[in-house]
Amino acid sequence: MSLKSLAKKRNILIGTAVSGNALRNNADYRNLIVQEFNLITPENAMKWEVFSPKRNTFAFDDADLIVDFARNNNQKVHGHTLVWDKQIPDWLKRGNFSKKEFHTILEKYINRVVDRFKGKIIAWDVINEALGDCNDDYDGDSFWYKNLGIDYIETAFNLAHSTDKNALLFYNDWGIEDINVKSNFIYKMLENLLIKGVPVHGVGFQMHIGPNFSPNIKNMRDNIDRFSDLGLKVWITEMDVRITDSRCTKEEFEIKQPEIYKAILSAIVEQGKVDAITFWGLDDSHSWITYSLDKNDSPLLFDKDLKPKSAYYAVADALR
Ligand code: G3I
Repeated sequence: MSLKSLAKKRNILIGTAVSGNALRNNADYRNLIVQEFNLITPENAMKWEVFSPKRNTFAFDDADLIVDFARNNNQKVHGHTLVWDKQIPDWLKRGNFSKKEFHTILEKYINRVVDRFKGKIIAWDVINEALGDCNDDYDGDSFWYKNLGIDYIETAFNLAHSTDKNALLFYNDWGIEDINVKSNFIYKMLENLLIKGVPVHGVGFQMHIGPNFSPNIKNMRDNIDRFSDLGLKVWITEMDVRITDSRCTKEEFEIKQPEIYKAILSAIVEQGKVDAITFWGLDDSHSWITYSLDKNDSPLLFDKDLKPKSAYYAVADALR
């Protein structure tokens, strides 16, 4: 039985991040995504540098391809991401704009993009990774913070909501699965936004983990409870389990990886509060760890030949 059939019985959406290029050029990749998943997140196709490489110019090709593919195959789309410090086009990054002009640029961008996909996107990651390296405060060096001040966060949520009232709006970050300094900060931040009436509907736990940095299961569940108690959805948005940075050998990892997938996801499924789980890439040849971090890793559910790994069966077991 496919992951999506198993997940459906649990009322969980099960997703993968997709590459526009692979979707366009690889029929096996397309078929496997249709067979196994009912939610897809464009891995890069909805980022600012892709949407607006030149000022006042928009390019929606890959995003359209992905959204049309999903709709033709009864899959939902998770939009990623409206406001982030990374993958910002040069014209914007190097532009000499006033605070007012930055505000207008952000406003026009969010309105244009959210409107373009209105009704076709179930959820948007409105803000991605707003914290600094110490994880206990906002990143004061981040592009948006520097140019607009901290209000950029609520501004972005308000703009997105005013354009699409039905899309679920998320704050998305890494390393917040456990109860720790970072998740405490984000909990307070989201609580304050909600008190102010800012339309935030969910928090994305990215879940980029490995043998040396996996959340403690009990703390993770308590963490999910406290965010849910705020009235927020908690989604797993970018899961992968990597060997790089862990102390184990490849052989040990091959045993540990499925164990980690199973332990984390069984606990989440049993708790019954998370209703969407997305993996950050379909297979080991499409992982950011390999092509962004330049590391030889194998963090996903399918191998480079698109064959299911032990990790895949572990996830299926967890859903079962
Ligand atoms: O745009 C160029 C393209 O023109 C060129 O042909 C290609 C050749 O290497 O490089 C392209 O840019 C790369 C882009 O991915 C598209 O493949 C960038 O160099 C590379 O840095 C970029 O990496 C992405 C990374 O975000 C950027 O920070 C990864 O694919 C993507 O998986 C990763 O995803 C992030 C989430 O958005 C947020 N959470 C963390 C996660 C992992 O870093």
